[in-house]
Amino acid sequence: MAVQISPSILSADFARLADEAARVAGVADWLHVDVMDNHFVPNLTLGLPVVEALLKSVSTPVDCHLMIEDPDRWAVGYAEAGARSVTIHAEAAKAPVRTLRAIRKEGARAGFALNPATAVDAYEDLLPEIDMLLLMTVEPGFGGQSFIDGVLPKIRRARQLVSKHGLEVWIQVDGGVADETIERCAEAGADVFVAGNAVYGRDDPAAAVQALRALAEGA
Ligand code: DX5
Ligand code: ZN
Repeated sequence: MAVQISPSILSADFARLADEAARVAGVADWLHVDVMDNHFVPNLTLGLPVVEALLKSVSTPVDCHLMIEDPDRWAVGYAEAGARSVTIHAEAAKAPVRTLRAIRKEGARAGFALNPATAVDAYEDLLPEIDMLLLMTVEPGFGGQSFIDGVLPKIRRARQLVSKHGLEVWIQVDGGVADETIERCAEAGADVFVAGNAVYGRDDPAAAVQALRALAEGA
């Protein structure tokens, strides 16, 4: 499983999103876009019109993380718009199988996210419907929070389940991923790493991506 880095533009300058995306072009594997609706999480960011505009001006594949209520209604629109990966939350989806299939049908990768307190075992049978399992390593809603070490056993468990079924499901971690924590995540079995503050909080975001990648690959 190859290491992939997905910088989160939540920590970038929202007035200059295209320029901020360009700062990691060619080094980042994905651009992580956090959609928040102030209902599923206590924060409001951006929605489909901004994602559509961004898709026209960035070359890096876009990874949309939907922290919204009723993803069954909204998720497919992000895939139709051209996001290459669309992730819905287990805690919000009422018809996850239908929604994950609709995302795939539009040619995007189907992501399924679990909050820190949501156990992975209940979703074992759903794994064949999922291209990427996102394990939140903070409570979703804000950038710059501290990594929750208590999620590490769940990363291990998820990797075991994916291997047991011989699947190719990627395991993404999101929240507090930084130079100090990325090796622990990689060692536990994660292979896709979201980093907001640890990339856009730095003077040189591209160098920060490379440093994170080197740490994860060495773990
Ligand atoms: C938080 C978002 C994250 C956020 C991570 O709910 O889903 O993607 O940008 O930010 P950092 O890496 O700063 O913890
Ligand atoms: Zn995110």
